[in-house]
Order: sequence, then C-alpha cells, then structure tokens
Amino acid sequence: MSDSCEYPDFFARFYDVIYDQVRNDADHDYFLNKMLKVKGPVLEVGVGTGRFFIKALNRGVDIFGIDLSPSMIKILKDKLPQKEHQRVCVQDLCKLDLNRKFDLIIAPFRVFMHIISVEDQLQALNKVYEHLVPNGQFIFDLFVPNLKMLLEGLDNFNDFEGEYKPGKKLKRYSSMQADLVNQISHVTFKLVWDEDGKEISKEWNTDLRFFFRYEIEHLINQSKLELVKICGDFEENELNQNSKEFIVVCKRSS
Ligand SMILES: C[S@@+](CC[C@H](N)C(=O)[O-])C[C@H]1O[C@@H](n2cnc3c(N)ncnc32)[C@H](O)[C@@H]1O
Repeated sequence: MSDSCEYPDFFARFYDVIYDQVRNDADHDYFLNKMLKVKGPVLEVGVGTGRFFIKALNRGVDIFGIDLSPSMIKILKDKLPQKEHQRVCVQDLCKLDLNRKFDLIIAPFRVFMHIISVEDQLQALNKVYEHLVPNGQFIFDLFVPNLKMLLEGLDNFNDFEGEYKPGKKLKRYSSMQADLVNQISHVTFKLVWDEDGKEISKEWNTDLRFFFRYEIEHLINQSKLELVKICGDFEENELNQNSKEFIVVCKRSS
C-alpha cells in the first residue's frame, strides 16, 4: 500500500468541512439506514473522521471502525469519549485483523478505490469475508467512470469554497489526469485557507483506481464473497446509462 493512500494531516483537518457539504446529501441516509437495520455489530472500513460512525453510535449501533490514515483516526477519536476509543483503530483493510465478526461491513465513499492492485483488492475482499458472520453483507460504493472527464482531465478545478471557522476561508482545487491503460486517476487536491492573517496552500497527490461494471463482477466472483447486486444509485435503482454510482452489495453465503 503506497503512502499516497494515507490522508495527510492538513487534509484530515478540513475533511468534515468539505465533505459534510459536498457528500452528505448523496450517501448519508443510505448507509445510516443500512446500519440501523442490523441487530449485530457493524464495521466501517475506511471510517475516516466518523462522518457516519458518530451518528450510528449515538443511535445505538454497535459500530467499530478501522482506517489506514492515523490523521483521520485521530480526528475521530477526538470526537469520542475515552470509553469508546477501543471501537476504532488504524489498520489497512488488506490486512484486516480484528478479533470479532460483523453482521454488516461497509466501506462508504470510494474507500475501495484507494486499493490499486488486483492482488490487494482480492485480499481486502477475502479479509472482509473472514470478518462477516454467515449471511452478513459487505456494501461499498465506487464511481462509474465518466469517460469524457477521464479523457479531458481536470486542471485546478475549484470544487469547494466555504469557511472552516467564521471569517476563515477555505477553498479546494482538484486536478486529475487519467492513466486509461492502468485504470488509475492521478488526483491532486490543493487546499487554500486563511491562517494567522496569511493564505496557506498545500497539495496532496493520490491515486484512485476506477472500475467498470463487469470487472467488479469478475473480481467479486474471484473472491470468497458472493455478489448480491450492483445498483446504480443510493435508492438501489438498477444500473442504467445515467448511473453515476456503483453501489456494490455482497454477502458471505456460508
Ligand atoms: C474518502 S474517505 C471516506 C471516509 C468515510 N468512510 C466517509 O464516508 O466519510 C476514504 C478513507 O479510506 C481510508 N482508506 C484508504 N485506503 C484504505 C485501506 N487500504 N484500509 C483502510 N482504510 C483505507 C482513507 O484513509 C480515508 O480515511
């Protein structure tokens, strides 16, 4: 797993400000409702700063979380009372090793796209299998590749503008170049913010692996998990020409 998968401190610091605004409307109710429906323990892999975790825990879900990035886990732990810290830890999904099994495992918001090689992807799916009870489900999302955007790329596109504290500006610029042969988006996120009367700017380069429909099917068929369905949105409608999301539902059948 390359270092570029680990979220740097400056990005983790502003994660909630940005993604509460740009992502909550899309996926929030879907994953929260899935968690509220199960009776047993739930694991969120790539739990991040707890965008789902905190609300699920407060609503009585027996939730646990792992994440590759110490920066993200630190922010999550700072939001939790000490007695709940044992619920979260730094771990790589590809080497998942927890001493319990779960009724549901979720990986919301592109976590799986951070896993670049097929070997690591299969390893991750099989680790999930080992941590599910029979009939337990694994649900994750990927974006449907936008071919036009992949061909054209993005150059310093301003996709977020807001305040991280009253009067303190924060902006995000995204750049992307796609490697079409290896199905990798090379992404650069630049954050620009006000601090102590100065404008600070920092960049982070990371890679996202993009997937096509039948690749996902073949990948899951090669793993120990069973594919239940791939939906095209968070209402679980069927995939169609306009779908922007792959919502992948798998299960441990035995
Ligand atoms: C876009 S964030 C999503 C965080 C959270 N699930 C949410 O919806 O806000 C992706 C997260 O996946 C984590 N991640 C990436 N690769 C991982 C891996 N191999 N194992 C565990 N976590 C990983 C990153 O550190 C990051 O916190």
